[in-house]
Amino acid sequence: MTDTRLPESNPAPLVPELLVGRVQREDMKRQRACCIWLTGLSGAGKSTLGNRIDQALQQHGLHSYLMDGDRLRQGLCSDLGMSDSDRHENIRRLAEVAKLMVDAGLIVIVSAISPFRADRDAARHGLEPDQFIEIHVSTPLGECVRRDAKGLYRAVREGRIRNFTGIDSPYEAPLTPEFIIDTSSHDGAEMIEQLVAQLMHRYRS
Ligand code: ADX
Repeated sequence: MTDTRLPESNPAPLVPELLVGRVQREDMKRQRACCIWLTGLSGAGKSTLGNRIDQALQQHGLHSYLMDGDRLRQGLCSDLGMSDSDRHENIRRLAEVAKLMVDAGLIVIVSAISPFRADRDAARHGLEPDQFIEIHVSTPLGECVRRDAKGLYRAVREGRIRNFTGIDSPYEAPLTPEFIIDTSSHDGAEMIEQLVAQLMHRYRS
């Protein structure tokens, strides 16, 4: 029988080489993989924009997948709450999964408040420089409160929710995002068109 124990002089786990690499997977899909990261307040329009980006990419024959914060909190991150440390862990997991999806040759769209700059920067640094596209959905708090699609801002006012982003929990806006979009004044169509063109061009060049 084979001895599967690691030699004591080298306790680090051995990482097996992958026979099929990212570029091979990208070439099969005729695209270059990347992570499009949408950050902003609750109600800013991240999920809506993420869905529209996903749909536009599909319509142009690109292979994409949307990882939405609210959805991931029902499964992979269902053990996490809204404390600062749970949010750090939430974003760490999202970044790790996004990295695997990029390795699989996909264009992955992450939509999550991701309030801390350091966590988003860590997600960026886990990828190659041109593989991370950060979009700040900068819709102001007043507009998010006015929309209140999920009734959460009302719940905050009534004291039923605490640690709410932008109210009594911090939001650190990106310093140099690739795109900024305020959905109270723009519908995002122009930005999506620009993004799709950029991703299509990347494969050809
Ligand atoms: S993050 O801060 O860890 O990035 P994430 O995007 O996954 O957050 O989840 C945010 C969603 O959780 C919001 O869209 C909202 O529906 C819900 N939510 C529940 N409680 C809070 C809270 N205290 N602050 C912000 N969002 C909350």
